[in-house]
Amino acid sequence: MSPVYPHYALEVEDLTVSFDGFKAVDNFTMYVEKDELRTVIGPNGAGKTTLLDLICGRTRPSAGKITFMEHDLTYMAEQARVAVGVGRKFQTPSVYPKLTVFENLEVSYPSGRGVWGALFFKRSSEVVDRIHEVAKRIFLIDQLKTPADLLSHGQKQWLEIGMLLISDPALLLLDEPVAGMTVREREQTADLLRDICHGRSTIIIEHDMKFVRKLASKVTVMHQGKLLAEGNIDEIEENPKVIEVYLGH
Ligand SMILES: Nc1ncnc2c1ncn2[C@@H]1O[C@H](COP(=O)(O)OP(=O)(O)O)[C@@H](O)[C@H]1O
Ligand SMILES: [Mg+2]
Repeated sequence: MSPVYPHYALEVEDLTVSFDGFKAVDNFTMYVEKDELRTVIGPNGAGKTTLLDLICGRTRPSAGKITFMEHDLTYMAEQARVAVGVGRKFQTPSVYPKLTVFENLEVSYPSGRGVWGALFFKRSSEVVDRIHEVAKRIFLIDQLKTPADLLSHGQKQWLEIGMLLISDPALLLLDEPVAGMTVREREQTADLLRDICHGRSTIIIEHDMKFVRKLASKVTVMHQGKLLAEGNIDEIEENPKVIEVYLGH
């Protein structure tokens, strides 16, 4: 029998982090379901990136609690969070520029071999199949032999998403994944993100409201480290508080 989880997969409760007295995240609470795609928006400096830092373990909170699938993440080490399925994409794409698309995906395949081990490892068909499956989803199936530094900025963003997907994380954290993408790439990315959220919880930080609308997810608005509003895109765009601090600018 599979374990029974509480209603929410991710529970962030009363979370606070203080940097020399400045609260970048301030008594913030958010619940995300399994199979949910959640978009987090808010003005610059609202604490969005810091929130992801706290969830992935890059930053330790001053107070509050983070629970994922009954694992208490609050003070868990970053690598231990990866082991329970937390995958994080940072704002700037970080791929191995000299390695091909195939090799970038291969070194990300969970095996504990690391970059050098993977390069000399005899490829099993299981690994190759998985790489092809992910490469298709991230629109790079025809670029498998292309070195990553020859990809467009948008394709690098996709590759980095693929490097996370290859280990099938249960919680996927993406910080502004369409930054620097063309209109066409953004459209493809919206399809990709709506597709990959099945079977996991996904949190996306975004500020392009047209793109947020395409994602069609529940939206959480942060302001000065606090929760300002939560709801669907129509509710958010009509919310006077959100218009005042964010959308009006
Ligand atoms: N390590 C840190 N030390 C001090 N201040 C920080 C640190 N990290 C973030 N901040 C501050 O916290 C606030 C929120 O930052 P951030 O989470 O990056 O906002 P956002 O991603 O919403 O633009 C900013 O004022 C930023 O300068
Ligand atoms: Mg940020």
